[in-house]
Amino acid sequence: MESVRSLLLLISLFPAIANGLTRHYKFNIVTRNATRLCSTKPIVTVNGQFPGPTLSAREGDNVLVKVVNHVKYNVTIHWHGVKQIRTGWADGPAYITQCPIQPGQSYVYNFTLTGQRGTLWYHAHILWLRATVHGAIVIKPKLHVPYPFPNPHQELVLILGEWWKADTEAVINQATKTGQAPNISDAHTINGHPGPISTCVSPQDGYKLQVNRGKTYLLRIVNAALNEDLFFKVAGHKLTVVEVDAVYTKPFIVDTVLITPGQTTNVLLTTDKSSGNYLVTASTFMDAMIIAVDNHTATATLQYKGTLATSPLSTVEVPQRNATPLATSFADSLRSLNSKTYPANVPQNVDHSLLFTIGLGINPCPTCINGSRVVAAINNVSFVMPEMALLEAHFFNKQGVFTTDFPGKPPVAFNYTGSGPTNLQTTNGTRLYRIAYNSTVQVVLQDTGIIAPESHPIHLHGFNFFVVGQGVGNYDPKTSPSKFNLVDPIERNTIGMPSGGWAAIRFKADNPGVWFLHCHFEVHTSWGLKMAFLVEDGEGANESLLPPPSDLPKC
Ligand code: C2O
Repeated sequence: MESVRSLLLLISLFPAIANGLTRHYKFNIVTRNATRLCSTKPIVTVNGQFPGPTLSAREGDNVLVKVVNHVKYNVTIHWHGVKQIRTGWADGPAYITQCPIQPGQSYVYNFTLTGQRGTLWYHAHILWLRATVHGAIVIKPKLHVPYPFPNPHQELVLILGEWWKADTEAVINQATKTGQAPNISDAHTINGHPGPISTCVSPQDGYKLQVNRGKTYLLRIVNAALNEDLFFKVAGHKLTVVEVDAVYTKPFIVDTVLITPGQTTNVLLTTDKSSGNYLVTASTFMDAMIIAVDNHTATATLQYKGTLATSPLSTVEVPQRNATPLATSFADSLRSLNSKTYPANVPQNVDHSLLFTIGLGINPCPTCINGSRVVAAINNVSFVMPEMALLEAHFFNKQGVFTTDFPGKPPVAFNYTGSGPTNLQTTNGTRLYRIAYNSTVQVVLQDTGIIAPESHPIHLHGFNFFVVGQGVGNYDPKTSPSKFNLVDPIERNTIGMPSGGWAAIRFKADNPGVWFLHCHFEVHTSWGLKMAFLVEDGEGANESLLPPPSDLPKC
């Protein structure tokens, strides 16, 4: 007892000692039956939970997660947004940084949360398993370091998801076979619950957020959906955005949050009503009308304590699926906090200036339904997954696994957002783009109108980037840069590109390794909309990739 007391005293006297704890987690990947939306099916989960358990830590902590695979699929877990400085082995995308954990095997992900605090999330990074294998990562600031906003009374994690009545592996396998788009989902979910849905005979109540009046709550919102951007609203309440992707923002007040797959958003909600039940909604944003979407709105209830569940529910109007101006104004409002403590270190000069076309294509496929299949590509390259991990091939200098000739610009220039080329065929390759340690990179992500312009959520592993500019139509190298924000642009790890437009991102390649860049619409990743950067080691002592852990899975 005495020793515990003196330890506590010591910790409070020397807060630095209390930082950098080691957190141990065990993730058992197991199948369980789940009932959602009037169907029961086996789902793959972390520890039998859906969504999975929240991983909580503080900035500076070392996190060890032992993942044990008890299911029939190969599994990996990605810690989405965690920078993994020099620890690419713990990043998680299958065949990029590791071979998968095979059934019956385990792997310990070992990483440190350096220079990041806020909400991130984890998810399976193989097949479509992330539909049900995901959860929040809550990184608190270091001990005694306050938030740069009023301290909330309570914090709540809200995970938005997407639910298929059918088995999601069967959905994507079917699509791969036929060459056509996979079936859309049957519902969206909030913390695993769709809420009442008219197409379901036994509607569920949905998730309840119970609140006291006169308090401020921090909602940590994660979009874990596979293929859909979502609008998030709470009836009768404004939301103050304070952080995205574990980066503090200049606070701004909205009725509606836009959040793409892969993104996280923290908002403050003040319970300024005296009582009542208020509808919470997550609804689809997809302004390319020819793309089929699941237009079911997930609902939950914000319930003031003391209000009966049977009391009337205040409802809210859900935005149209093509509410482009709402989406644009949300994206335009995001700014890094850029304070003294949390500066925006925007690269002012660029060593590599790249133009990536992002879009779909059509390739021949004799066994497919139309004799062709829908594919997706960056600079007309549909990425082919290798049979061993790229990071291992790089570290051990194995030849023949990948090439480093990924094109820095489209092979042919065309009117990207206009009528497009006549030949929609893409090329295949496992091609990486090589960059020297600490060089600065600008990537202009240019949507194409091939098949349909779409708002692709592009995610980069290993780094945050700054969104220095975005616009509709084609990027113009002469006029577009003059409007760049190089002072306080938003810093994040996933950007929802404007459909039929472009976004310019910048990052400093200060993390050696092999880093995946891909569309976070799982359907587009499956179709090849992905590539990787190879960042070389630097010269200094702390500038090289660490050696692989001894339990790194084998292919
Ligand atoms: Cu959240 Cu490569 O993914």
